[in-house]
Amino acid sequence: MIIGLGTDIAKTDFWRRALDDSSTSVIEGTFTRAELSYCKSGTVPTAERLAARFAAKEAFVKALGSSRYGLQPLNSQIPLVDIEVIADSWGRPSMRLHGQARDIANQLNLGPIWLSLSHEDEYATATVILESNGSLPSKSP
Ligand SMILES: CC(C)(COP(=O)(O)OP(=O)(O)OC[C@H]1O[C@@H](n2cnc3c(N)ncnc32)[C@H](O)[C@@H]1OP(=O)(O)O)[C@@H](O)C(=O)NCCC(=O)NCCS
Repeated sequence: MIIGLGTDIAKTDFWRRALDDSSTSVIEGTFTRAELSYCKSGTVPTAERLAARFAAKEAFVKALGSSRYGLQPLNSQIPLVDIEVIADSWGRPSMRLHGQARDIANQLNLGPIWLSLSHEDEYATATVILESNGSLPSKSP
């Protein structure tokens, strides 16, 4: 059963500037090493890929929120680095959760996470769909 939907759009330029600015740790605070390594590989501009993954993390947070529509939000600020975008051998994206993100997913009895990314020059976008893990998600706390 689908329990959540989230979407987000992000500007590439923010991440292009962050890549050029050694005084900021925003990249390390947002992306895992594996994400960074993936985004730096190949011919696709790194900033586009980072923007898409940032949008994916925000879309995931929105999807979690939508799963609690009408209920008090979970009182938790999930570190974005705990929400990791991964890819299969063919480049199809998915998500792996760590730390606080995984704890909340367990509380909500979260099942499969569906993710789609797109990026083109100045903007990147992501859509996340959440499924429950069989039974209805817990509505508490
Ligand atoms: C997927 C595809 C349409 C990408 O289109 P595009 O306009 O060049 O690229 P977009 O910016 O919209 O999307 C890029 C993102 O799509 C995702 N992606 C790549 N291949 C994908 C695939 N086969 N399925 C789903 N998503 C895919 C990746 O996350 C990629 O971002 P990344 O490079 O930062 O990891 C194109 O690569 C393609 O046609 N691939 C093969 C088609 C295929 O697998 N068909 C299914 C047959 S069953």
